[in-house]
Amino acid sequence: MTAQDSCTECDGAENSIVHVDCVTHKYPDGTEGIHKMCFRVYPKEIVALCGPNGAGKSTLIEHLNGLMMPDVGRVRIFGKDIDKRNLSDIRKLVGLVFQDPDSQLFSPTVLEDVMFGPINLGLSPEEARKRAEWALGVVGMKETRKIPHYLSGGQKRLVAIAGILAMEPRILVADEPTGDLDPSNSRRVEEVLRSLKEEHGISVVIALHDMDMAARLADRICVVRDGGIVAEGRPEAILYDEALLASTGLEMPTVAKLFRQLGMDDGVAKRPLRIEELLPLIKKA
Ligand SMILES: Nc1ncnc2c1ncn2[C@@H]1O[C@H](COP(=O)(O)OP(=O)(O)OP(=O)(O)O)[C@@H](O)[C@H]1O
Ligand SMILES: [Mg+2]
Repeated sequence: MTAQDSCTECDGAENSIVHVDCVTHKYPDGTEGIHKMCFRVYPKEIVALCGPNGAGKSTLIEHLNGLMMPDVGRVRIFGKDIDKRNLSDIRKLVGLVFQDPDSQLFSPTVLEDVMFGPINLGLSPEEARKRAEWALGVVGMKETRKIPHYLSGGQKRLVAIAGILAMEPRILVADEPTGDLDPSNSRRVEEVLRSLKEEHGISVVIALHDMDMAARLADRICVVRDGGIVAEGRPEAILYDEALLASTGLEMPTVAKLFRQLGMDDGVAKRPLRIEELLPLIKKA
């Protein structure tokens, strides 16, 4: 298959760095996790995958570094099809933070766990240690000598994120990375993801149910339902489409709800996505 053979849904894939081209994945019990899924990621953007439980977000995500392979279709990273021979190269480019952090942590200490990835990339133990200490500092994890197994759920999550950061991927994919974090750690992870894009030009794909966070963080929203992307676009369009969100079991973010309930969404005014954008509008009104 050449680029020209991409399915018709995949228009605009030319400049993409990730191209999931009409992918179907069937689990051994016959369930289709995703069906003819078309999805793209462009340079330096944060894409949020929003959708109800069982929509296919994790199945899609696990295709992005070859953890799962398509039954039909293909996945291209920086223009190269993922196949069994280039998996190690692909995993240097695409770092994946799992939905379940337990499946990512296995070393005797937190520090060693985070060093594991860089050492696997061929870095010396000193370099790997430096990277690991930096990454653990970024996520604010101080208990570096502890056995990962004994950490709390949220701490495990932070270590799992640090483990991927330490590998300095070009694309970071995170499956509900703030699900079990307290508000301050959740905010910290949000800031880390934003700074990866803004300061390092990394693209981020994030699956999440937290629509307020999607509003604050994403450049583009993809709504996932029944194994496919049913809508995608800029947050000010998708996150203000109440009917679309309701039909997918999602809700408008708080700022969007408020803006609309205050009668300010007249179709002309720029729609706020963050509280800092809404407040001046309320004061001015
Ligand atoms: N190992 C598996 N075997 C069989 N079916 C599976 C398996 N894993 C997922 N599925 C099914 O595939 C579909 C998509 O699941 P997936 O985990 O991708 O959804 P999700 O959008 O990530 O949901 P959540 O928000 O709950 O994490 C669901 O119908 C699910 O039941
Ligand atoms: Mg999931």
